[in-house]
Amino acid sequence: MSFLKSVFSNYRTIGAISPSSPFLYKQMISPMDLSYDIHIVEFGAGSGTFTDALLKKITLGSSLSIFEIDPLFIKKLQLKYKGDNRVVVYSLGAEESTKFFEPESIDYIISSLPFGFMNSALVFHILESAKHILKKQGKFIQFQYFLQNKKHIHQIFPKVRYRFTLLNLPPAFIYICKK
Ligand SMILES: C[S@@+](CC[C@H](N)C(=O)[O-])C[C@H]1O[C@@H](n2cnc3c(N)ncnc32)[C@H](O)[C@@H]1O
Repeated sequence: MSFLKSVFSNYRTIGAISPSSPFLYKQMISPMDLSYDIHIVEFGAGSGTFTDALLKKITLGSSLSIFEIDPLFIKKLQLKYKGDNRVVVYSLGAEESTKFFEPESIDYIISSLPFGFMNSALVFHILESAKHILKKQGKFIQFQYFLQNKKHIHQIFPKVRYRFTLLNLPPAFIYICKK
C-alpha cells in the first residue's frame, strides 16, 4: 500500500507501478557472491523488496547501505530495519554516496533508480559516483524497463552484461556492469 501511495504522489521519482517481482530480484542478486562478509550499497530501495531479499542471504558480518529520497519509503525502511545492525539508511540521493565511502571500498551496488526519468547530467553523476566507490572487481547492477540509458552506462562502465525477465510488471532488462 505504501508503494502505491508514493507512486501516486511522485511517479517520476519512483518510476515504477509496483514493487519488483521475485523473478526480478533473483536475477538482480544472483550475480553477487554473498558467501562472505561484503559491503553492498542499494540505490532507490523503495519499500525494500531487494533489501529484504538481500538480508536473507548476506552474512551477519556484511553491511547494506541504502540511499532513498522518498520520505514515505525512508520512514518505512527506517522502521523495518531498525533492529538489523547490518543496515544503514541514508535519506539522501544516490549522487551523495561518494561522501560516505572510501574510493573502491564497495563490493556491489544494486540500483532501481528510474534513470529514464532523470536528466542526463544526474544519471552521469550517479554512474560516476558508483564507479568511484566500487572495488575493482565490484559490480553495479541496475534494472530498467527499456534500454534508454544503455549509452550512458557504456560510457562509464566498459564491461556490461545483460539479462532480461518477462516475469515482472513491466518486463525488465538487467545491466550487470564492471569497471
Ligand atoms: C522503482 S522504485 C524502487 C522500488 C524497489 N527497489 C523495488 O524494486 O521494488 C525507485 C526508487 O528510487 C528512488 N529514487 C529516485 N531518485 C533517487 C535518487 N536520486 N537517489 C536515491 N533514490 C532515488 C525512488 O524514491 C524510488 O523509491
